[in-house]
Amino acid sequence: MPAAVHRLRLAPSLLSADFAALGDAVRAVEAGGADALHLDVMDGHFVPNISFGPALVAAVRARTRLPLDVHLMISEPLRYLDAFQKAGGDTLVFHVESNSEPEEVVRRVHALGLAVGAAIRPDTPLSALDRFVDRLDQVLVMSVQPGFSGQSFHPEVLPKVRAARERIDRAGLSADVSIDGGVTAATATGAAEAGATFFVCGNAVFAGGVVADNLRQLRAAVEEGVRHAVR
Ligand code: DX5
Ligand code: ZN
Repeated sequence: MPAAVHRLRLAPSLLSADFAALGDAVRAVEAGGADALHLDVMDGHFVPNISFGPALVAAVRARTRLPLDVHLMISEPLRYLDAFQKAGGDTLVFHVESNSEPEEVVRRVHALGLAVGAAIRPDTPLSALDRFVDRLDQVLVMSVQPGFSGQSFHPEVLPKVRAARERIDRAGLSADVSIDGGVTAATATGAAEAGATFFVCGNAVFAGGVVADNLRQLRAAVEEGVRHAVR
């Protein structure tokens, strides 16, 4: 399915929200037209930062009907899949650089009845997904080194976004290509043009201005990229 006819989705990352007012953040993005929520789980081992775990995901689940996209930046995703399913995650995204066997993670997430995504760091080649890409619901291309919000976008990952989109389309699959890290109204256009269909945005949504306006600007930037792509 070409990116142009794919549903384009904005997924604000709660990592950039005020943790003491998460309920307000969830309401604001829901009212502002977000399509999903992105939850960044960090274990202080796979990445040099610690964020939150299943209890917080469950608390957010109780507040919203938006799909929850759970980004597992943890060393052993296989050990925690059940916990994040029970917490109410809809898509579990694991890193291929983690210690868990990727094909086993894919199999287990699907067995739990959830969608599965595989994430790659900026320096990991797309070929790391070769053995199981046809079973993925989402390919997440990191455009910053995972660990912190508010970093700048690495444009050198765009060819990887393009290659992922081509590969998925060529195989007649419908997986999302997701872009995560430094996505702003200025960088989202290029990512959409390259074929991304799922846009994670943290600081661009929460770090200033009005959430609904920020989301509108991001969506306009994404739509502009799609127009360039079909020309
Ligand atoms: C980085 C996380 C991202 C990040 C997004 O490790 O996976 O989801 O928090 O935040 P921004 O958009 O500010 O880079
Ligand atoms: Zn993330």
